[in-house]
Amino acid sequence: MIYLDNNATTKVAPEVEERMRLFFGAFYGNPSSLYDFGKGIRRTIEEARAEVARFLGARSEREIIFTSGGTESNHTAIHSALKAHPERRRIVTSQVEHSSIRNLSRSLEREGYEVVSIGVSKQGTLDWEAFENALTDQVAVVSMMWANNETGVLFPVDRIGRFVKEKGILFHVDGVQAVGKLQMNLSSIPIDFLSFSAHKLHGPKGIGGLYVREGIPFFPLFVGGRQERDRRAGTENVPGIVGLAFALGLAVGRFSENEKWIRSLRNRLEDRLLREIPESFVNGYGEARISNTTNITIARVEAETLLIRLSEAGVAASSGSACLTGALEPSHVLEAMGLPRELAFGSLRFSLSRYTTSEEIDMTIQTVSKLVRELRELNKSSLRGTSQAMPKQSETSEIASLARPPQILAGKFARNDGKRL
Ligand SMILES: Cc1ncc(COP(=O)(O)O)c(C=O)c1O
Repeated sequence: MIYLDNNATTKVAPEVEERMRLFFGAFYGNPSSLYDFGKGIRRTIEEARAEVARFLGARSEREIIFTSGGTESNHTAIHSALKAHPERRRIVTSQVEHSSIRNLSRSLEREGYEVVSIGVSKQGTLDWEAFENALTDQVAVVSMMWANNETGVLFPVDRIGRFVKEKGILFHVDGVQAVGKLQMNLSSIPIDFLSFSAHKLHGPKGIGGLYVREGIPFFPLFVGGRQERDRRAGTENVPGIVGLAFALGLAVGRFSENEKWIRSLRNRLEDRLLREIPESFVNGYGEARISNTTNITIARVEAETLLIRLSEAGVAASSGSACLTGALEPSHVLEAMGLPRELAFGSLRFSLSRYTTSEEIDMTIQTVSKLVRELRELNKSSLRGTSQAMPKQSETSEIASLARPPQILAGKFARNDGKRL
């Protein structure tokens, strides 16, 4: 299988797996126990915490809380911020957040909070004017993602943070797709909370963390045992914590070489697909993006069908479409970027990792191009002779041109002069 769905999850690095195994086997004790067997494991957790803090550029290991992953970290941060300012009833976030923030926002709305979701441009960048206007003295917390999981587009968290902090508002960043993919020094960025998750960076599933800037009031989501200095109750996931710290160390340790490699493969995939496939474009092209992600819209092709065919051919990729109440819904991210529904349904995400090879990318380019040609052909012949009118190509192109910034046009599509291609 050619695995190009690394924003969904990643394979656990073999070195990480090996390190974790010790803590399922020989060192299985409870870190809260008073005998040496437990105390040794407690020390291991504290070492892992110090490493995570160092890799993220935090000021102190006390700023790191281990959680079960990105979703829990996101919930913990918002819960804590709302408790810190019970008199403030407004939450500011964006329209392109992950479902763990979107669905939490919906549930908070039902509880009477006001949620302002800031829109984005066609390129996926934050509507700054709307953002500035939303920051009243009623805002308890601003929650924004660092890197978008569907398009890879980065929000300028440094700039956002400076603005938010000037107003005395708490700032949470969903860093799940950024940690391990960007170099960061949290001590120099005005972020109060940062969520991260091990399974996006070649660590195990079910473990993550929340950075909480020192001095910020904190209210735990889970109460019970006294783990994590009373900030997150529950017996620690020791193998997970060890795996998270080790995986992060590997990501940070070889950051530059990995980043260069992944970016070059991603660019090759993008450039070649755009060249091979007329009427295709990259969402968020030209903006600052994480290096492993590309989201490509292919007009006149249904991404779901293409994904199934790709899967049969041994390539795993994804689309942002979600199945809600039995009907397929287009990606909320692409919708927020103003992409018409029919084009959003034709969008695919490829997300690479340091394990991706150039042969895999070449094979993917060939396979995708061939399948798109076949599907478009099939589409044409299935409509021939039926009463259903095939949308004229120039019409499809027009729809595409509404959504597409001019510099990202490729191949024949770029030279579209209104005649049939
Ligand atoms: C941006 C973002 N936030 C949060 C999450 C949720 O993380 P987890 O799966 O660790 O709960 C994901 C996972 O896809 C994500 O991409």
